[in-house]
Amino acid sequence: MKDDLTRRDVVKIAGAAAAMAGPLIRTARADTNAVQFGIIGTGSRGTYLLKHLAKIDAGRCVAMCDIDNDQLDKAQKTIGGSPKRFKDYRELLAQKDVEAVIVTTPLFLHFPITKDALLSGKHVFCEKSLVFRPEEVHALRALKAEHPKQVLQTGLQRRYSKFYQTAKDMVDKGVLGKVTAMHCQWHRNMVNTPSALWTAKPGGEGNLKNWRLYRKYSGGLVAELTSHQVDVADWMFGTGPELVMGWGSIDLVNDGRDVYDNVQLIYRYPGKRQMTYSSVSCNQHSPLFGSSRPQMGEMIMGTDGTLHLTVGDDTNPAICWWYREPPKATTVEKTDKSKKENYVAGATMVAGGASRPVPLLFDDLALTGKESFLDKEVKFARRWLYSKGVMVQEEARNPVDTELESFFQNVRDGGTPRANIEVGLADSVAVILSNQAMDEGRKVYFNEIEKGSPAKGKAKNT
Ligand SMILES: NC(=O)c1ccc[n+]([C@@H]2O[C@H](COP(=O)([O-])OP(=O)(O)OC[C@H]3O[C@@H](n4cnc5c(N)ncnc54)[C@H](O)[C@@H]3O)[C@@H](O)[C@H]2O)c1
Repeated sequence: MKDDLTRRDVVKIAGAAAAMAGPLIRTARADTNAVQFGIIGTGSRGTYLLKHLAKIDAGRCVAMCDIDNDQLDKAQKTIGGSPKRFKDYRELLAQKDVEAVIVTTPLFLHFPITKDALLSGKHVFCEKSLVFRPEEVHALRALKAEHPKQVLQTGLQRRYSKFYQTAKDMVDKGVLGKVTAMHCQWHRNMVNTPSALWTAKPGGEGNLKNWRLYRKYSGGLVAELTSHQVDVADWMFGTGPELVMGWGSIDLVNDGRDVYDNVQLIYRYPGKRQMTYSSVSCNQHSPLFGSSRPQMGEMIMGTDGTLHLTVGDDTNPAICWWYREPPKATTVEKTDKSKKENYVAGATMVAGGASRPVPLLFDDLALTGKESFLDKEVKFARRWLYSKGVMVQEEARNPVDTELESFFQNVRDGGTPRANIEVGLADSVAVILSNQAMDEGRKVYFNEIEKGSPAKGKAKNT
């Protein structure tokens, strides 16, 4: 078998593999040990999670709550069965058969609902950003300490992605050299392609459907988007930032919102490391992955290499591309001809610029020697296609499925989530202080949160 296949070979092998795969057979749901859960807030995210939960046997939805009947109808259709329906979340929490709750309400309600759920003896999966106000950081930490046996997980799904875990391993094992910088972006075009969630509905601040657009309820782009990526930076650097500074303004979307539509931030991490961050609303272009994917991604930069990374969802696969840096130039000694040549070669590589990216491949593509002839051929074919950039390797599972299954597993085993309370609180602190840095136009130190930093500024039209 040659390593370099022709396209005809590839098509032939792929066709044969598809024919062998046969129809998908779904097993009946029969997990008697399933965690009985209720969901609070069945809007966009709640329904998305229910779509995934419908295929997860380790949990069974027995109750749902939303103040809006239409949202409950949609949610019930998504999950099926006959969960009990509530308009007041406290009634759901009073149900004895509910062991765990999934909180997918607007941000300002995360803390009061999570608090009441812990006090009712429930395990909690709460979407990011975990809490909204500085005082909630301290209050939730104290409350959780009083309820050590209850699981509290934050919905930061990148922590459950195989691609991101591989990136973390590469950073920790020094594959990228000394990693001192990251750049992350989440850009959207809110003018040409406004998203329903970010479009103002009538009623302004008085209409809770507009919760994302007002600082009374929301942390704006920082809470909704940056929170995912500053968490990735914390994870990669192995610590939270020391300080944040930035610029935020409302430049384009003048619909009455008081959250910024333009966010530019610099986070300084211990050990002379930093993450720069951008979220604009005028344009969705991304220079990552050869511009093959718009909007969002993270770039991790080390002395020996760079990773471009983005998460997958139901439509788009996760991607991780690895670029190598030129090797370290050796010292030139004029008298030693061979060393001089080395130096010139190194300099040429630097001047030549970028290396070609290598897509990250997982162990499912490694040859074990035990596979059938056809399996081996398929692995070669897939490697070839990935290496040529014809295909991107898909994450074996959507990390949303993994985070939810992991939650149920922890409820049963008493394990600690990867996105545990401290991960969630550190992320919330970053959200709170980033908005404060932009509001006040100054460097904000992370230890200010201990002083109960107010962070109640409002975006101004600048
Ligand atoms: N992890 C992710 O990638 C991700 C993605 C999207 C949203 N989220 C998070 O999920 C949360 C919800 O976002 P969304 O997009 O679903 O918002 P949404 O506005 O679509 O849904 C919120 C729902 O909560 C309901 N609600 C409001 N007050 C309530 C109350 N007192 N009791 C019960 N229900 C109430 C609303 O009626 C609505 O149906 C946010 O915190 C958001 O940041 C996370």
